[in-house]
Amino acid sequence: MARKTYRIAVIPGDGTGPEVVREALKALQAVMDREDFRAELVEYDLGGSRYLRTGEVLPASVLDELRTVHAILLGAIGHPEVKPGILEKGLLLELRFQLDQYINLRPVILYPGVDTPLKNKGPEDINFVVVRENTEGLYTGSGGFLRKGTPYEVAVQESINTRSGVERCVRFAFEYCRKRNQRKKLTLCGKTNVLTFAFDLWDRVFHETAREYPDIRTDYAHVDATCMWMVKNPEWFDVIVTDNMFGDIITDLGAMIQGGMGIAAGGNLNPQGVSMFEPIGGSAPKYTGRNIINPLAAVGALQMLLEHLGEGSAAQRVEGAVRKVVARDLKSLSAGEMGYTTQEVGDLVADHIAKS
Ligand code: IPM
Ligand code: MN
Repeated sequence: MARKTYRIAVIPGDGTGPEVVREALKALQAVMDREDFRAELVEYDLGGSRYLRTGEVLPASVLDELRTVHAILLGAIGHPEVKPGILEKGLLLELRFQLDQYINLRPVILYPGVDTPLKNKGPEDINFVVVRENTEGLYTGSGGFLRKGTPYEVAVQESINTRSGVERCVRFAFEYCRKRNQRKKLTLCGKTNVLTFAFDLWDRVFHETAREYPDIRTDYAHVDATCMWMVKNPEWFDVIVTDNMFGDIITDLGAMIQGGMGIAAGGNLNPQGVSMFEPIGGSAPKYTGRNIINPLAAVGALQMLLEHLGEGSAAQRVEGAVRKVVARDLKSLSAGEMGYTTQEVGDLVADHIAKS
């Protein structure tokens, strides 16, 4: 029987993106040697260099092709010579919106052997997932200027929250929480005491939906308190659901407590469509081309991609290899301090997969 074949779009992107994606693809090759599927990779040259060269950010023809793949692996977007916003909005957010990737899934898991800045906390305490709404809120670009450039200038940036948008996100979070483990606790992170319109809607949808999930305990925390608990009592969290902006902020905090940007990965999911996986660390211009950046976040993104494709056993091999590398091999997860080069870390991962 012919092996199952996935078409995977690869967007190495800017800065250290290509370096870390190369190592993630090494892991993919290693795992394909052990498993019963194939991947057909289609690479896309998108990002700051292409924009500076041609003025193109996301050509319509590329977007059309991306609509047809099984998944996308993204390295990083962001270029020091391109004005902030052009690539972020024109490429990364445009992909999220156009492909309707309405969930940003961000696991915050501390692996044994990894240092956390939280005193007296270990892997048994830091193990939760943030479900961030990914297509609405403050990210829609709704708003504008009045009298721009004058002393009477007005800048308005609106948070858009639709019932259907909130509902599909909240429902995803309940479903995900039900399947994740036996803890079955879902926390809504909001700001119901101040944002009395947006989070009133979230709160109502959350509690209405909760009635359909009697097996799941629900909890609520304001976003500022969420930051506090993530540092003080991270063990309280299992799954957190929140809006786009709050999710953006708390997941950087999450990345830090799980060991830093060297390990943090995320998925932009459209459960009915094309999903995209990325290390969340950005393009890191100061480390670019030096072979010192940690590729494990990109490997983690690959793991999430495999899981999403339904290749659970492949995903487990990748995760197992990452766990071994951080427990046995690396001195630190920080760029330049790993005790290995970017490529060597990729080789270690591939070796562990080959022996799995
Ligand atoms: C993230 C990033 C993006 C975001 C930026 C690069 C637009 O910070 O994926 O968290 O704000 O969503
Ligand atoms: Mn962010």
